[in-house]
Amino acid sequence: MILIKLGGSVITDKTKYKTLRTEVLGRLASEIKASGQKVILVHGAGSYGHIIAAENELQKGFFKESQVPAASQVMEDVRVLNLEVIKCLNEAGLPCASLPPSAIAKLQAGELKDLDCQLFADYLELGIVPVTFGDVCLDTERGFGICSGDQLMTRIAETFKPTTTIFCSDVDGVYTADPHSDTDARLIETIDQKTLDELPRSQRCADVTGSIFKKIEHMLNIATYSKALVINGLVPGRLKAALCDEEVVGSKVERIL
Ligand code: IPE
Repeated sequence: MILIKLGGSVITDKTKYKTLRTEVLGRLASEIKASGQKVILVHGAGSYGHIIAAENELQKGFFKESQVPAASQVMEDVRVLNLEVIKCLNEAGLPCASLPPSAIAKLQAGELKDLDCQLFADYLELGIVPVTFGDVCLDTERGFGICSGDQLMTRIAETFKPTTTIFCSDVDGVYTADPHSDTDARLIETIDQKTLDELPRSQRCADVTGSIFKKIEHMLNIATYSKALVINGLVPGRLKAALCDEEVVGSKVERIL
């Protein structure tokens, strides 16, 4: 089984509220189908989640009444996005089932506590692709919080030990600096603990689910159980190549044990 995350920056325009990249999503679904691989799919929230979540500091948990309608709005918006993903997968000929974290997961102080992984296993067994996503979730200590796609990826990788785990980003992989704004940014082909320790402070900008540091920590954990790659989902053919275990431009994550 191969575990895939479609980052919110790939399937949406992260700067514009609820802006879907329909063509990209359709192409990625076709690439998954064409690979013939058995997969579990996780997708990010992009502009369907981060904008309202950040405005209302939902990642800090419940602390004021005005967050309640905001949490509900984000749950609605990420479900709309999820439905778009599900539609594209069905159109590509990939039977799939949606597993929303707001219904099947619980956080504890921001960390993923419970996730019903048996549901994923049962759908896989039936030849149905389980699909989950970054969502608002109940939190046993904070009322609610944000469950990120990366937290879900880590738990699913621990449980299922996929042969490969692929993160689809909007850039070629992990860089030494932000490739959108820094022309000196260099692609890091192999990421390990040393990479994490050496990343410059300028890279520490964060959205509601954390900085690149948090992301690399998740990836290093995942690399304990699985070959782990970060590739560019905006470049046609790369996801299919990675799914077929072909050489592909990107960053490979290595855990030094
Ligand atoms: C974010 O999930 C969830 C919400 C903001 C509701 P992710 O952290 O996985 O989303 P992306 O990939 O960064 O957009």
